Amino acid sequence: MDKIVIHGGKRLRGTVRISGSKNAALPILIASLLTDDECVVDNVPDLADIDTTIGFISYIGKNVSRRGKKVVIQRNGKLKSSAPYELVRKMRASVLVMGALLARLGHVKVSLPGGCAIGARPIDIHLDGFKKLGSDIILQGGYAEVNTKELRGANIRLRFPSVGATENLLLASVLAKGKTVIENAAREPEISDLASVLVKMGADIRGGGTKTLTIHGVSRLRGFRHSVIPDRIEAATYLVAGAITKGDVCLTDVNPGHIKTIIEKLSRAGLRIKSGEDFVRATWVKNLKPVNIKTGIYPGFPTDVQAQWMALMALVKGGSKIEETVFENRFMHVSELQRLGANIRIEGNKVRIKGVGGLSGAPLMVSDLRAGAALVLAGLVAKGKTEILRVYHLDRGYEHLEKKLKKLGADITRLHC
Ligand code: EPZ
Repeated sequence: MDKIVIHGGKRLRGTVRISGSKNAALPILIASLLTDDECVVDNVPDLADIDTTIGFISYIGKNVSRRGKKVVIQRNGKLKSSAPYELVRKMRASVLVMGALLARLGHVKVSLPGGCAIGARPIDIHLDGFKKLGSDIILQGGYAEVNTKELRGANIRLRFPSVGATENLLLASVLAKGKTVIENAAREPEISDLASVLVKMGADIRGGGTKTLTIHGVSRLRGFRHSVIPDRIEAATYLVAGAITKGDVCLTDVNPGHIKTIIEKLSRAGLRIKSGEDFVRATWVKNLKPVNIKTGIYPGFPTDVQAQWMALMALVKGGSKIEETVFENRFMHVSELQRLGANIRIEGNKVRIKGVGGLSGAPLMVSDLRAGAALVLAGLVAKGKTEILRVYHLDRGYEHLEKKLKKLGADITRLHC
């Protein structure tokens, strides 16, 4: 089990290239199940979750090869219609194969993913949508089995704009008979990226990136070539890293339009921000002011940046508040930040933060991907040594994290234990 050791106090300065988006790449790789043609996905980040997805798609029945950032997926015989627990428990996004396999085979049996550190994370919205498209659902023995004679277009109104459910229902409806309207759909950039790939494959989709998606089913889909959008959550994490260390960090290969809310909050806190078509530079010029955030669906403040923002506010003089509205248990990082000396109080789905003058390093345990990012950020400024355990959580979503931070001047080392 590797660990990361950080000696805090270095101001981060320099340029960092943002990798392709994990949360866009996952559904796009899975979209290759909808065709027998060759699919080429570029700008794919080197992450554990991508490896898991590649392994999964190969298990289902594709020939997948990877050359650097490029992943090539080709036909390799019949597709399997089942996904066992040992595969799904490694990565909940594996449930995204349901829509694609239902569309291709009319049958899919996937282990229910179960909860994770940040919440119960049910898939009822996904399953309700499949039912509306003309499927029967059997929940038994920890599995969801979905069968259909023929998927038929339907009007589906999501009770909550779930990102995964929107993706799953898009993947299912593109080959359904007739018209599907998905109302109250999620609008995250990753959904728009998936929709643009499906259109390249020959799907008829209107409204990508809006709350209402209209899909006219087609009979077959062809292969595609696509380069994945930049990872907006990684981008936000590095901007906060620059802010918390009173540094000067420039992101390249980023889409500033995808992180407008973060940029707005950072400039309100006092960072000087300059941005262009594919870069954003954040420079610390004076002591920051406390800024409250409330997480929400896109284009609101992303829940995946809530932990990182908390680490930043823990060191900003004055009081600030964070409200988490997307997940029911996304404050696992609070107790670890408190161990470094942060003054944070949980009140239901809100936390109150009182900025302190400094933090001191300590051994920390990562509970989930974005909580881990917050602990790394805190370690960058904590006095002395911070040791971070269970870094495998970080490897799921941050490509070459310690290399990128070291290049920006951090005193950070990964120890293989
Ligand atoms: C996606 O998860 C992301 N993961 C998450 O990023 C992100 O936090 C989340 O969207 C919200 O933006 C990927 O894209 C792989 P949801 P997803 O369905 O699709 C409830 C990261 O760090 N819900 O929008 O699972 C659910 O419990 C990860 O990269 C139901 O109740 O998120 C949650 O409270 C973490 N029933 C809320 O909706 C359902 O059927 C949002 O979930 C589905 C969801």
